[in-house]
Amino acid sequence: MTLPVPIFELKNVTKQFSNLPSLIDINLEIYPGECVALVGSSGAGKSTLLSLLNGTLQPTQGEVWVLGRNLTRLNSQQMRQVQRHIGTIYQQFHLVDNLQVIHNVNAGHLGRWSFLKAVVSLLYPIEVETAAKALRQVGIVEKLYERTDSLSGGQQQRVAIARTLVQNPIAILADEPISNLDPERSREIMNLLRQLSQESGKTLVTSLHAWEYARSYFHRIIGLRDGRVLFDAPVDEVSSVMVENLYRI
Ligand SMILES: Nc1ncnc2c1ncn2[C@@H]1O[C@H](COP(=O)(O)OP(=O)(O)O)[C@@H](O)[C@H]1O
Ligand SMILES: [Mg+2]
Repeated sequence: MTLPVPIFELKNVTKQFSNLPSLIDINLEIYPGECVALVGSSGAGKSTLLSLLNGTLQPTQGEVWVLGRNLTRLNSQQMRQVQRHIGTIYQQFHLVDNLQVIHNVNAGHLGRWSFLKAVVSLLYPIEVETAAKALRQVGIVEKLYERTDSLSGGQQQRVAIARTLVQNPIAILADEPISNLDPERSREIMNLLRQLSQESGKTLVTSLHAWEYARSYFHRIIGLRDGRVLFDAPVDEVSSVMVENLYRI
């Protein structure tokens, strides 16, 4: 039996910004449909790792393979083609506040639309049905024409998720998607992300600093500490000692 090609593969990856490396000799493979949590304290390297997976950062050493392509070997056009299939959701939502929700959702098309189409879409909303469908999936279709900054934090994160759905990526990366939300909203967003990835078979990689959420929502946990993988295990094999070691000061 041949194994499927990993969606993401890191081979001996080190990332160094200045003197101290932020990630050290990381090796991991993430396969189609997996739901993986990256956990660790602030500064552990979670965001850096996600930025390597979506090609925003390049490794200092080693290789990052995404969808069977070695990112370090790609020219900018090939890189954009790969990046189109990877949707990223951020802690700060990364929405344009003073635009209507529909425009922020339609930004998910930008990797495919021509510049002209993108400009026209700002003057006359197009692809309304696609945007409405994505907003319906995240439960806020009635907000289509609202100004984005009139929405609550939880609703804005739903807009960011709808934008990713419009992009229709193969994998979703979420960088601490709930760290600006209250516990109730956090549970709603985690349920939504898990449900969306399970329904469509999309690979989901989410960084979280809180172990409690990782334990409740993910099958596989990668524990990062000081730039190294401390453990990479199914959730029911992660012991309380492993978690203590992850967060110990
Ligand atoms: N652009 C950058 N320039 C310099 N150092 C950085 C940069 N991004 C991250 N770092 C450093 O890399 C380490 C890991 O950061 P980060 O990946 O943001 O951790 P986490 O997301 O787990 O909080 C930290 O020590 C941080 O200061
Ligand atoms: Mg971070």
